[in-house]
Amino acid sequence: MPKLLVVYDSQTGNTEKMAEAVVEGAKTVSGVDVSLKYHVRPQELEEASAVIFGSPTYHHDMTLPIKNILEDAARANVQLRGKIGATFGSYGWSGEAPKLILEVLKNKFGMRTIGTGLTVLYAPDTSGLEQCRNLGKTVAEKIASM
Ligand SMILES: Cc1cc2nc3c(=O)[nH]c(=O)nc-3n(C[C@H](O)[C@H](O)[C@H](O)COP(=O)(O)O)c2cc1C
Repeated sequence: MPKLLVVYDSQTGNTEKMAEAVVEGAKTVSGVDVSLKYHVRPQELEEASAVIFGSPTYHHDMTLPIKNILEDAARANVQLRGKIGATFGSYGWSGEAPKLILEVLKNKFGMRTIGTGLTVLYAPDTSGLEQCRNLGKTVAEKIASM
């Protein structure tokens, strides 16, 4: 069964709420093994058909745990080429993190990225959660037939 991995960091819980909604949406698609993780080993990324990264924006950047995961993966020479990638994250005023991560997934790892990086201002409201569920569902549908 194809695996969809949602990896996130969240300091005050807003991106965590988004991550849970992404997983909820992905789980509406049958035939996909969906998991939600806070920490991953580089190898776990390689085992997934799709990875969705969630990071809030702090100091105009992704958070250190997410940066470390990406750097560890690069150091371990993890092969993600051709896999599906997407990103999301809560923000307060500039919201760069999801777009920055998306660039790394595309340009460094050669992943096939979906969307432009979903951002939600502070805590996700009903519409924000719906967008998260849609993101999870869209990505899961892409790999369901693999
Ligand atoms: C010290 C600090 C720095 C921040 N820097 C930014 C920033 O550069 N750009 C931005 O859009 N939001 C910034 N924020 C706002 C956070 O992204 C926002 O509070 C977000 O909801 C946090 O998500 P989380 O609950 O998943 O940690 C900052 C917040 C704090 C406390």
